[in-house]
Amino acid sequence: MSDPAIPAHPLPVVAHAPGKCILFGEHAVVRGQPEVLLAIDVYTQVAVRAAREWSLNGHTEPAAAHPYLQAARRELWPTGDPLDVTVVSRVPKSSGMGSSAAFIASLAAALGAALGGVDRATLAQQAFTVERSAQGVGSPGDTSAAVAGGYLTLNTPVGAIGDPLWTVHAGGDEWTVRRIADPGWVWVVAFSGLPKDTGPRVRAVSERFSSADGPALLARFAEVANGGLRAMAKEDAAETGHFLDENQELLRTVGVSHPRLEALLDAARPAALGAKVTGAGGGGSIVALARPGQETDLVRRLARAGAVPFATRPSARGVGLV
Ligand code: PMV
Repeated sequence: MSDPAIPAHPLPVVAHAPGKCILFGEHAVVRGQPEVLLAIDVYTQVAVRAAREWSLNGHTEPAAAHPYLQAARRELWPTGDPLDVTVVSRVPKSSGMGSSAAFIASLAAALGAALGGVDRATLAQQAFTVERSAQGVGSPGDTSAAVAGGYLTLNTPVGAIGDPLWTVHAGGDEWTVRRIADPGWVWVVAFSGLPKDTGPRVRAVSERFSSADGPALLARFAEVANGGLRAMAKEDAAETGHFLDENQELLRTVGVSHPRLEALLDAARPAALGAKVTGAGGGGSIVALARPGQETDLVRRLARAGAVPFATRPSARGVGLV
């Protein structure tokens, strides 16, 4: 293997990976439409060591019940030797910020290091295989962001903006992942405190995409994501904000907003160029692009509205050994 991104390292090994925030195209990406997202500078760290029996954070029962750990054990750990896995995460769970993907990417990198090193393209496929095996549905957006870091786009046409990184497969489907330039903006993300559940949401929206107006809706999602992508490439924040709002209108239409999330979007509006739900929705978080110089005001407004907001920039590096 030439230039493994994750070098060989004997156990014990510690890896970390960033969370993510979806700017355009969640849900539609599962049906092959474009998505734009970034890895954020908030990390999950996973330490793996040899043990007498499998354990998660020192306990055996949670290890046996953890769907992602079980899937990683099946898919990525051919020796089967028991491991003690310890997780410390700053990515809030069930928040739409990719905590599962960050956990899986870190764990896959740690196991890959212990098995002799692994390159990022392989890791991106492995991490998605584990997520899909546990979750049954979804796209490789979250796991690719955790592996690659920075800004990414999925499913944009050949010749479009961005440099190809890898193509990820599941069943008969494939998603091409590209790196796009960082426009240099600070994003404000706010967790509502309301947990979301990705699997059921993805299945419900997928049914909607199979209904009579599904094709038209998918086409509109693609138009908005491509518009957002072009606006970002021009570093036009106002136009990007407009497309964030357009995307939110579509998320409302497919039923993944929530009165709590709408209250946060209302609170953000005076200080934001645009704002939307990020992730599977029904709960979780919103993402907003502040009006120039109004980042602090935006954070304050969202905190007053009862959310847990923070300003974030892209994680420059994706998954890595610590
Ligand atoms: O809410 P999250 O972090 O699980 O993001 C889900 C994004 C979806 O597009 C709804 C599903 C997917 O796997 O792409």
